[in-house]
Amino acid sequence: MPLTTRIEAAITQAILSGQGKVAPPRLAEALAYATAPGGARIRPTICMSVALACGDDRPRLTDAAATALELIHCASLVHDDLPCFDDAATRRGKPSVHRAFSEPLAVLTGDSLIIMAFEVLARVSEDDPQRTAQMLLTLAKRSGMPFGICAGQGWESEAKIDLSAYHQAKTGALFIAATQMGAIAAGQEAEPWFELGARIGEAFQVADDLRDALYDEETLGKPAGQDDLHGRPNAVTELGVQGAVSRLKDILGGAIASIPSCPGEAQLAQMVRAYAERLTPVMPARQAI
Ligand code: IPE
Ligand code: IPE
Ligand code: MG
Ligand code: MG
Repeated sequence: MPLTTRIEAAITQAILSGQGKVAPPRLAEALAYATAPGGARIRPTICMSVALACGDDRPRLTDAAATALELIHCASLVHDDLPCFDDAATRRGKPSVHRAFSEPLAVLTGDSLIIMAFEVLARVSEDDPQRTAQMLLTLAKRSGMPFGICAGQGWESEAKIDLSAYHQAKTGALFIAATQMGAIAAGQEAEPWFELGARIGEAFQVADDLRDALYDEETLGKPAGQDDLHGRPNAVTELGVQGAVSRLKDILGGAIASIPSCPGEAQLAQMVRAYAERLTPVMPARQAI
């Protein structure tokens, strides 16, 4: 089964079971709206690719890991778009959840997706309690405080930002969880997979800063120029466009070099190379600004 089909099937299944039969219909609809159609699904793709490279001997665990990661990611986007954070009207080319439903429903959608992520993992614990416990801990660590997305978003409320802690928590954390949970799902140690996740996360952040500076809202499917608008420190103001592009290439080279030895090492390196190509922006429209 192609990776994307496997990922979509697992996410759809989780959302369907979270919608229930007697649950409030608008919140149930908002859960589907926030998760499909998805964006790049990069975190579950990385997680599954690592699990496959390590043998994928417990596919139900891999599916749960990939789904849980994407649910946390979607939840973080719903909350991030709220008026009290970035006040974004669009996401993935359509109105953000609070614009399409309401602010209370957007808060509840994010909350429900976060809880669902941990439930999806807990459900497979009978297949392998030890691996599941490790995956739950890894996801919790990279979602909350002090190392996870909550910490990352929290930095935006500080007068002085530690840029590297901010980026690693806001964006890098879930990439670290993706490589580590993929390895754990397939029975491998998590620690050797930290560096690959951290490097892909760092590259992703630089690419995201470039896209934010260079692309328009239509291309992005979400508001552009946000870093400038909110005065957020970012790779483009720090290094310039060309500097940021060469930084991106350096980080991705390091990412490939850091792949731990495993049966599917060559294929995994190929996946990272393909991802690198997709990440590198084609210099477009707003570069002139
Ligand atoms: C966007 O992430 C949010 C950041 C962490 C900067 P993605 O670019 O992975 O979003 P989708 O899932 O593809 O929409
Ligand atoms: C949002 O970060 C992603 C989270 C980790 C919550 P940003 O605010 O920088 O990204 P976009 O531009 O809204 O996707
Ligand atoms: Mg934000
Ligand atoms: Mg935002």
